[in-house]
Amino acid sequence: MNFNIKRFKTIDSTNTYLKNHHQNYPEGTIIIADYQTHGRGRENRRWLDQKDENLSFSILLKPNISYHNITKLTLLSCVSIFQVLKKYTNYINIKWPNDILVNHKKVCGILTESIFEGNNLQCVIVGIGININTKKFPNEISDIATSLYLETNQMYDLDQILSEIIESFNHFYQMFLEEDYSFINICRKNFHLIGKKTVATIQQEEKEIIILDICDNGNLLVEDNGYIKEVFSGEIKVKK
Ligand code: BTN
Repeated sequence: MNFNIKRFKTIDSTNTYLKNHHQNYPEGTIIIADYQTHGRGRENRRWLDQKDENLSFSILLKPNISYHNITKLTLLSCVSIFQVLKKYTNYINIKWPNDILVNHKKVCGILTESIFEGNNLQCVIVGIGININTKKFPNEISDIATSLYLETNQMYDLDQILSEIIESFNHFYQMFLEEDYSFINICRKNFHLIGKKTVATIQQEEKEIIILDICDNGNLLVEDNGYIKEVFSGEIKVKK
């Protein structure tokens, strides 16, 4: 795939920009911002941007796929980033389906948004926020957020990491287009909660579940009150 990077100094949100302008850009367009004034996280949370310290970008995809496969794109993005960041830091895990943790704190979050016209998938926007050189987080999130700098005591070149991620993403996206979903194995191997009892919110209800596996289709296999269930990302929020 050809990638084509468009950079903004300041923007409200790279995901919002692509939501509004996807018709004007081809697949492979990457919108990156030095600073987002309204960076968005999942569940309407805010994503805090520290100017020039982190990577905040969105990738526009226009695959011809059924909506069942959209979750796989989030996992694919997670795996692509994981493969790059693990070169720089130890104690790194994937938290299904869209976070990467270092030392159990979040270093990367992914917000995947899809746009449909009727039943037709127009595009998928993969929004990626990675904390790279942040030295200090606000108190409210300092227990749950970290950066590569804080974990390794080194500063990193943002463009270098971006280009490594694009290369990695391209590799796994080619596999995906050829219906090779073996990248899910990387997710499985590096998801620290497999086999563990944990608290999760499933359809608005908080429960204790056991995480059994990530299925080949990318869904999570859990044991909930003695029953084995397959849940997709929209249905579950794993606490730790
Ligand atoms: C989350 O962890 O809840 C997802 C965070 C996603 C943040 C990225 S930063 C680039 C892109 N633009 C946004 O507004 N959000 C995503």
